[in-house]
Amino acid sequence: MEDDNDPAYGKPDFVLLDQVTMEDFMKNLKLRFEKNRIYTYIGEVLVSVNPYQELPLYGPEVIAQYQGHELYERPPHLYAVANAAYKAMKRRARDTCIVISGESGAGKTEASKHIMQYIAAVTNPSQRTEVERVKDVLLKSTCVLEAFGNARTSRNHNSSRFGKYMDINFNFKGDPIGGHIHSYLLEKSRVLKQHVGERNFHSFYQMLQGSEDKLLQELHLQRNPALYNFTRQGAGLSVTVLSNLNSDEMNHQAVTQAMGVIGFSPKEIASIHRILAAILHLGNIEFVETKEEGPEKGHLVVAEEVLVEYVAELTATPRDLVLRSLLARTVASGGRDLIEKGYSTAEACYARDACAKAVYQRLFEWIVDKINSVMEAQGRDPRRDGKDTVIGVLDIYGFEVFPVNSFEQFCINYCNEKLQQLFIQLILKQEQEEYQREGIAWQSINYFNNMAIVELVERPHRGILAVLDEACSSAGTITDRIFLQTLDTHHRHHPHYTSRQLCPTDKSMEFGRDFQIKHYAGNVTYSVEGFIDKNRDLLFQDFKRLLYSSTDPTLRAMWPDGQQGITEVTKRPLTAGTLFKNSMVALVENLASKEPYYVRCIKPNEDKVAGRLDESYCRHQVAYLGLLENVRVRRAGFAFRQPYPRFLLRYKMTCEYTWPNHLLGSDKAAVSALLEQSGLLGDVVFGHTKLFIRSPHTLVVLEQSRARLIPVIVLLLQKAWRGTLARQHCRRLRAVYTIMRWFRKHKVRSHLTELQRTFQAARQAPLYGRDLVWPTVPTVLQPFQDVCQVLFCRWRAWQLVKNIPPSDMAQIKAKVAAMGLLQGLRQDWGCCRAWVRDYLSSAADNPTASGLFTQRLQTLREKDGFGTVLFSSHIRKVNRFHKRRDRALLLTDLHLYKLEPNRQYRVMRAVPLKMVTGLSVTSGRDQLVVLHAQGQDDLVVCLHRTQPELDNRVGELVGVLAAHCQREGRALDVRVSDCITLSQRGSRRLVSVEPKPEQQAPDFHCSRAGFTLLWPSR
Ligand SMILES: Nc1ncnc2c1ncn2[C@@H]1O[C@H](COP(=O)(O)OP(=O)(O)OP(=O)(O)O)[C@@H](O)[C@H]1O
Ligand SMILES: [Mg+2]
Repeated sequence: MEDDNDPAYGKPDFVLLDQVTMEDFMKNLKLRFEKNRIYTYIGEVLVSVNPYQELPLYGPEVIAQYQGHELYERPPHLYAVANAAYKAMKRRARDTCIVISGESGAGKTEASKHIMQYIAAVTNPSQRTEVERVKDVLLKSTCVLEAFGNARTSRNHNSSRFGKYMDINFNFKGDPIGGHIHSYLLEKSRVLKQHVGERNFHSFYQMLQGSEDKLLQELHLQRNPALYNFTRQGAGLSVTVLSNLNSDEMNHQAVTQAMGVIGFSPKEIASIHRILAAILHLGNIEFVETKEEGPEKGHLVVAEEVLVEYVAELTATPRDLVLRSLLARTVASGGRDLIEKGYSTAEACYARDACAKAVYQRLFEWIVDKINSVMEAQGRDPRRDGKDTVIGVLDIYGFEVFPVNSFEQFCINYCNEKLQQLFIQLILKQEQEEYQREGIAWQSINYFNNMAIVELVERPHRGILAVLDEACSSAGTITDRIFLQTLDTHHRHHPHYTSRQLCPTDKSMEFGRDFQIKHYAGNVTYSVEGFIDKNRDLLFQDFKRLLYSSTDPTLRAMWPDGQQGITEVTKRPLTAGTLFKNSMVALVENLASKEPYYVRCIKPNEDKVAGRLDESYCRHQVAYLGLLENVRVRRAGFAFRQPYPRFLLRYKMTCEYTWPNHLLGSDKAAVSALLEQSGLLGDVVFGHTKLFIRSPHTLVVLEQSRARLIPVIVLLLQKAWRGTLARQHCRRLRAVYTIMRWFRKHKVRSHLTELQRTFQAARQAPLYGRDLVWPTVPTVLQPFQDVCQVLFCRWRAWQLVKNIPPSDMAQIKAKVAAMGLLQGLRQDWGCCRAWVRDYLSSAADNPTASGLFTQRLQTLREKDGFGTVLFSSHIRKVNRFHKRRDRALLLTDLHLYKLEPNRQYRVMRAVPLKMVTGLSVTSGRDQLVVLHAQGQDDLVVCLHRTQPELDNRVGELVGVLAAHCQREGRALDVRVSDCITLSQRGSRRLVSVEPKPEQQAPDFHCSRAGFTLLWPSR
């Protein structure tokens, strides 16, 4: 496909033709067609020529080449148009539609299928199940609808006999989430009769050829379409063009499978088969009038009653009722009286045919409704899910001319006129008008406006449809012929209308039967026969009620109007023509509200042969499709336009003068500055309110630079937004901290107030606030409170200490030192007593020898020159030879003396106090003390006490010694243990205490291991 720009393959866009003439156009079309280039653009309009052969132009690889590319970047293709419509929808959230037009057999339905395939292939990359389901239904629906709505005609072997407009709904991500099919005017007369070389709807042949024998038996059918009146005509005809292989059988399978995928239940599929079979049997029913004399004379009967039985069985209705509905009809006469009115043979045939047609039509409509119900986008809320966008695909029957053209062709061709009108409106007329409005230099291009023909058909009162309606509403007497006469009178001078009456020389028409319309696509002669009937589309109420009474729920659901009572007076229903006109008006309105994309299909020859392009045949189509005018308008025109503000809104980020907002005099000036900076000024023209861009390339350049900048802008926005969020958060945080600060202050303040209140009474002696309870402190003030408590303790201590007389200070200090060493370790350390210290000098404590001791002390003081007596007391000692003696202990600030009380306190041993390194005491109440001295044997003593009995002096000894060492600045090692280790001349011994109630005075007991102090524990 890369060679597409090669001149050998012609111009890919007719706009590029050197000269816009029919010759050049056709030359290019033919050249491309011969090279299998069946697609060519006119700007964004795609011209497609039916190749009548399989070309390697489709499939996933080709789709991949088109995906994400702009229209002009790749060779012309349906995929490119589908992609453009899809992109426009996604980019601008605009509803778009793809209108496929062209005459019967030009390839519209095939094109619509390729478009669907493209959309299905490029959407739902995340494979969401729901979207996949919708896609499946969208794709499969075509196959089912073709089976029931298409038939072989002389122009096309798979001709759509109904119009189809399909809306595909997309969510904001661009994935299909639902769809809706509108069907237009099924050519139901085909059920009864087909022209030579044509067939009934495919569904009949498919069922007959494809069903299993068993099913056919159940349906009372035989595998031979020639046996049934309705299918006899097309019995020998195949449906395929490319081979003579009859593929009805394969198609039957494909359709059944597709129905399954869509969601038709097996019961529903069985009902459909039964309904089709019933129609075939109905078609074979013939009527005969009885010839007997008497009251039975002229009575109408059914020739083969078994057929009635079949119909009754297949439609699940009572046989008698079927028979009655076929032979007579019930009419309400006068008030509530009902009378049965027998049919003539002709009437019965008419009623039968009307019934067959109607049953088929309802079946078709029911199938469409069923597909719609499955495809309907469900549970969508625009506020939550965003706005849905729509791509509409219109594949409607093409313009057609048969040897005999009836009411259906009239409607079909009117529909094509309407669509051509829309094309003119959108592509030719509006475009030119806009250029004028915007003050752009423009040379008007003439084109054929078919407005007059549309008016001829649909004008109120005088238009052909109005005249036809009038004829239908007049009771009985008006015939088709009279209707034709009325037309002749009304449109005698209409340039597009003629009849044999008005132009007697034209032998192509018959008197009193034909009229001719000069359509935009050519002259078509219509036979008025059956116009009134078909327009009135009468079906007697009896059939409606009969089918409503069916026990088959599927069939019953197709006939809700059968519920109506026979006597009920209803409004005259709208005629088929009016209904069709209304639906066309609605369709055109719908299409006009969307952004249109056009595919113009051309049929290369009338014989459906591959590789042959009949020039005159195609020239005609090119002419009536207005393609040449399209090229001219396009060449002179512009690919794209947008009001300045919208243009700026979309592209302002691409230029520094316009981003974020411009300061220029007008939006127009800003747009000009933007384009100048991008170097695109040469390809645009400035209108009054809009900018016109000549080539799509310019737009793509703009789009690309926009796409490049969008991430930066997104980042910017994200940055700003994140900043906003952070600032918001910060403000909140600050507020929180302020609140916390104030709250803390409040807590602190109230705590302090509370503290102050509590400690108001702290100065009162003697407790100085000892019993005051500290208030619970907030966590934050805990350290403060700790400090306060320390301070308070100090203060309280000071309050207590400052009143102590200096003479007591030594005692206090000793007590403090003792407390530090013994508190909690020893049960009683004599804290509560007054510490006398020099007990031996005390007459109270040593009544007999205190004088003697005082003398000795005096002698010692003179000799050793000590300052103070730290402690003196009688002791019981034991030595390493297990000798137990009563001695006296004197501790001065220089020495530790062991004295003999019995020899006037003679010194037995004196150890310099500096050598005393520690003391060991027990945790009990006993008075065991082991004095440790450096380089000396440990001295094991028990302090004697007389007053009061068992007085406790261990604490005092420890205290005074410790206080003294503190003063001297050296450490004293005080150990508290119930099993004291001592060393005497290098050997280690243990000393422990044994409480003994019967012991009079404490004494030592010696053993090999050491000593035990026997303690009188009273
Ligand atoms: N792109 C194509 N490639 C191959 N064959 C094609 C292509 N387009 C159309 N055909 C052939 O042409 C036949 C008629 O095409 P299609 O049914 O699409 O015509 P149509 O325009 O829908 O006609 P109608 O108005 O009667 O429905 C197809 O059955 C197919 O054989
Ligand atoms: Mg078709």
